[in-house]
Amino acid sequence: MFQHSLGTSEGGAISGGESTPEQVKFVGTHRLYWLPGAGLKKIAITEMRHAEAIAERVVAHGGTPVTAPSPITIGESAHEMMELDLRQEREAIRLYEQIIPAAQREGDQLTAELFGKILADEEQHYRHFSALLGLPG
Ligand SMILES: [Fe+2]
Repeated sequence: MFQHSLGTSEGGAISGGESTPEQVKFVGTHRLYWLPGAGLKKIAITEMRHAEAIAERVVAHGGTPVTAPSPITIGESAHEMMELDLRQEREAIRLYEQIIPAAQREGDQLTAELFGKILADEEQHYRHFSALLGLPG
């Protein structure tokens, strides 16, 4: 993910010359930075929102959402973590592709629409992890 830096120095971009310590403290540019952690954080927040929305649908159907997470495998390296994330996105996509028509068969359009939106997010996550791993999306 390309991001703007945190800020600019007073008076604009630094283009040579000397900076005061105060300026250096806040120096930034609008160059593009590769911040994979920012993308991962955004995905994690999206996943939490998915869990909340799904929990609301469970409650709407009279159920009780579980709060105990499934076991998590983190991986031994960043590369392995990305591979595991990619696999989990693929599994989520397959699951949601089954839930949507099931909800439609039951006449539950709200659930079908919710999982349609979640599916779109998961497909985006899949492409994100594929790109991080240098795989075709
Ligand atoms: Fe995801």
